[in-house]
Amino acid sequence: MIKRSRIVGCGSYLPEKVVTNDDLARTIDTTHEWIVTRTGIHQRHVAAEGEKTSDLAINACRRALAHAEKKIEDIDFIICATTTPDQTFPATATTIQAALGMSHGFAFDIQAVCSGFVYALTVANNFITTGQARRGLVIGAETMSRLLDWEDRSTAILFGDGAGAVVLEAIDGNGTLEDQGILHTLLHSDGQLNEILHMTGGPGSTKCVGSMVMNGREVFRHAIEKLGGAIEEMLTHFNLTEDNIDWFIPHQANERIIDALAKRFTFAPEKVVKTISQHANTSAASIPLALDAVVQKGCLKKGELVLLDALGGGLTWGSALIRW
Ligand code: ACO
Repeated sequence: MIKRSRIVGCGSYLPEKVVTNDDLARTIDTTHEWIVTRTGIHQRHVAAEGEKTSDLAINACRRALAHAEKKIEDIDFIICATTTPDQTFPATATTIQAALGMSHGFAFDIQAVCSGFVYALTVANNFITTGQARRGLVIGAETMSRLLDWEDRSTAILFGDGAGAVVLEAIDGNGTLEDQGILHTLLHSDGQLNEILHMTGGPGSTKCVGSMVMNGREVFRHAIEKLGGAIEEMLTHFNLTEDNIDWFIPHQANERIIDALAKRFTFAPEKVVKTISQHANTSAASIPLALDAVVQKGCLKKGELVLLDALGGGLTWGSALIRW
């Protein structure tokens, strides 16, 4: 008998304000058609003035707790993956902890940009499977709109705000592929590639946030290569084929990246979860938002195999295989 962790509740939250491509085209030199053709994005949600990353996360956590039929007293830890913390310190996870009325356990943030949720899930899984905790909230939450230069058409069109959360809980397993819960996670990074996607500032260097620098073509190329590599590695680890995967839930950065991966691995379109058209790229929030979208529709059935796959600045990337 071994310990596994499984997702027992999901929740998400999107800010009310929606900004369409046509809205953007009123202030920058772009068109709805260009954005849809190159990225698949139709609209993004944007936080209201004063609405913080923690506000989005708190709403997502309340929904995840309700979905799991758990109270905050049942939770041992909170891990929040975010690139857009409310403050330089303390961790946004502790702000969420306070708002949820929790003063026991522990809470901290993880920064792996768009891979943040897969990193956070991995760390949470390790706490649970080593017996250090029984149940935790794992969050991906972002207000990417705060990082953007809204006049830079090369990046302003790509991102959105939102939050997703899951309740992860200990369960007994046999150590086989038939177990329910997280079966395996893979994490990678290559700091030599941080130049292709980075911010020019930070508290320890310029004392301010800086602006986003992205070599779109290079990020695109590495995304296809590294996300594909992570899928390959996961399938090989378990001696599986793509036919064994019931749901593919990738980071939502660009529909063309998702479609290229789906084509390479011959995932049928109905197995591939895509929310990019409505949410744009919400960085660490994108996978839990996409997961919640299919969970709330009742699509995922007990026993199905779910593959998560993410890549972000760093570069960081990784995947997780879950038996639902
Ligand atoms: N509207 C209209 N034209 C534009 C826009 C815009 N918003 N942005 C750029 N252009 C122009 C360029 O100026 C260029 O014009 P030129 O040919 O006259 O020089 C032309 O369109 C083509 O530009 P490219 O940058 O070559 O366009 P590309 O097809 O590479 O698409 C994109 C750009 C969408 C950014 C793509 O490279 C991409 O998606 N890369 C991946 C990056 C990504 O996903 N980043 C998200 C963060 S990282 C992550 O989450 C994994």
